[in-house]
Amino acid sequence: MRDHYVVTGGAGFIGSAIVRSLLEEGARRIVVVDSLVTGRESNLEEVRQSIEFHRADIRNYEEVAPLLRGAAVVFHEAAIPSVPRSIEEPEFTHDVNVNGTFTLLCAARVGEVGRVVYAASSSAYGDSQVLPKVETMAPSPKSPYALHKLAGEYYASVFASVYGLDTVSLRYFNVYGPRQDPSSPYSGVLSIFMKSVLERCPPTIFGDGEQSRDFTYVEDVAALNLKAARARNVSGKTYNGGNGGRITLNGAWALVQKIEGVEIPARYGPPRAGDVRHSQADTAAAARDLGHAPRFSFEEGMRRTLAWYRHDGGL
Ligand code: UD1
Repeated sequence: MRDHYVVTGGAGFIGSAIVRSLLEEGARRIVVVDSLVTGRESNLEEVRQSIEFHRADIRNYEEVAPLLRGAAVVFHEAAIPSVPRSIEEPEFTHDVNVNGTFTLLCAARVGEVGRVVYAASSSAYGDSQVLPKVETMAPSPKSPYALHKLAGEYYASVFASVYGLDTVSLRYFNVYGPRQDPSSPYSGVLSIFMKSVLERCPPTIFGDGEQSRDFTYVEDVAALNLKAARARNVSGKTYNGGNGGRITLNGAWALVQKIEGVEIPARYGPPRAGDVRHSQADTAAAARDLGHAPRFSFEEGMRRTLAWYRHDGGL
């Protein structure tokens, strides 16, 4: 009987949000698989008694396969999720993101998993001229990370068509929210903005700050994952996981200052290699096929995120 859920990268920022959402929905058995390379056990602190935690690397078939066997759904979030890190460490990030995903899909197939929901990335679109970005557009990855995530998506789709493994890919658009680690140079920009404002330090914006992103609140992404786990007739397909909006970095920093009631002019540095200029999701297919409707406006998400960093995030 398929009775359990697996979340790879479940000690990470997005994975731990999926774990929480599963628990809220009454899931009985949740198995978290995480190497703790970027994930942290503290992200699971208050739910630790309700889940099974396994420190394991998705590249290790022998370790991972028994944990997946017979799972109802595997949410595959484990990855090294950074454009600049993929440029600086191409072998390691390829190994985890591409070979790890391949290994995981092999284990899911042999273990007769009910469905794999794969964390793909909006970076696959690259610099498309047309906005919003829609799933029918040809991908055009600009960085190793974008290519890794696209390769995983193609593998998921091929495992569906060739082996009959049920898979769905979700192209996340710049996810932010509580538990995003702000402490590394590879951290997501909004977590860096939160740290900067609470420490009253100017952030460095790469380029002119007029690049834009469809920043998506982590609870909306978790909700989308649960919808994708249940939707019918979606195997082998890819959907955008975005909010549908678009905010420039200058606009985002202005909002952070407004919420906090401070004025701290940002510093500006050279543009970052591999950066996409604009990013915005077309959300129609996810709404139609998965029944997804994002709940959090950018301002609401930012207020909640800042409150978390202030009270729980140790800043
Ligand atoms: C990309 C992907 C996203 C993926 C994410 C994982 C796109 C459009 N999105 O996000 O799908 O999940 O990688 O990391 O490719 N920046 C600064 N100052 C900083 C840090 C960043 O100005 O201190 C700028 C970056 O140059 C970039 C923007 O902020 O223009 C967003 O950067 P980041 O948060 O790293 O995410 P993306 O690279 O957009």
